[in-house]
Amino acid sequence: MSDHTPKRILIVGATSAIAEACARLWAQDGAHLYLIARNPQKLALVAADLQIRGATVQQAQLDVDQLDQHGAVVDAAFLELDRVDVVLVAHGVLPDQLLCEQSVTAMLEAMRTNAISVVSLLTLIANKMQARGSGVIAVIGSVAGDRGRKSNYVYGSAKAMVATFTEGLAGRLQSSGVRVMVIKPGFVDTPMTVAFKKGLLWATPHTIANIIQRRVATARSGIYYAPRFWWLIMVLVRCIPARVLYRLNI
Ligand SMILES: NC(=O)c1ccc[n+]([C@@H]2O[C@H](COP(=O)([O-])OP(=O)(O)OC[C@H]3O[C@@H](n4cnc5c(N)ncnc54)[C@H](OP(=O)(O)O)[C@@H]3O)[C@@H](O)[C@H]2O)c1
Repeated sequence: MSDHTPKRILIVGATSAIAEACARLWAQDGAHLYLIARNPQKLALVAADLQIRGATVQQAQLDVDQLDQHGAVVDAAFLELDRVDVVLVAHGVLPDQLLCEQSVTAMLEAMRTNAISVVSLLTLIANKMQARGSGVIAVIGSVAGDRGRKSNYVYGSAKAMVATFTEGLAGRLQSSGVRVMVIKPGFVDTPMTVAFKKGLLWATPHTIANIIQRRVATARSGIYYAPRFWWLIMVLVRCIPARVLYRLNI
């Protein structure tokens, strides 16, 4: 495919602030976007905005917790797009950690949204991309997946599963011509983190989207921190001995 051919891009979790910022960048290049999201009203607003910005847009509704609907939704997306150049999987929730400690139901719901739904979708998407032998699959993980911290280990362990699964998938698809990557943002100012006090380490969705756009365009399969300085921070965090980590209130 020539660089001037508009990209055909499938986005799951398309109403996420980070996904929307990515879609705006791709819209500027005239991309054909297939947006999948849970909330039809929000999705319609995002789709209309992206059309004005230059994209061709199709959309489909999916609550990713409805695992039995994944097959039909992915089939329809690939049928409509015909050729899929890029897939971005972006959905996620920041669960109430304390509630998840008390309620198995709440904990499993968080795992379903943040991990099980992702690996279910990735399995379906990967097989279709492998059959075609080209394209990029990008998944949004998190630095939170790099250590189990007492304050958010439910979210963190779901993201760890996503990262490890995606890394293995990248290896599986290496010889097929499909690139597979995990983008691990640090702190990003989005609706997910609206309750947090912001500081120096915080990035905007636009900054993260620029990184994702660049990685998707040219980078090899792999794990990428966003912004890149989080790589160094997480090297240091991974060096913290467990007995010290247990005492830290982070
Ligand atoms: N913000 C951060 O600091 C940060 C850091 C690291 C990683 N991340 C990851 O970045 C990704 C995007 O998050 P964001 O920061 O852009 O937050 P966001 O704007 O709150 O986006 C989260 C998205 O996930 C969707 N979603 C949640 N549950 C869903 C379900 N059951 N079915 C379908 N969609 C569902 C939401 O849909 P609705 O619009 O319908 O609610 C929303 O579009 C997530 O994977 C998140 O874990 C975020």
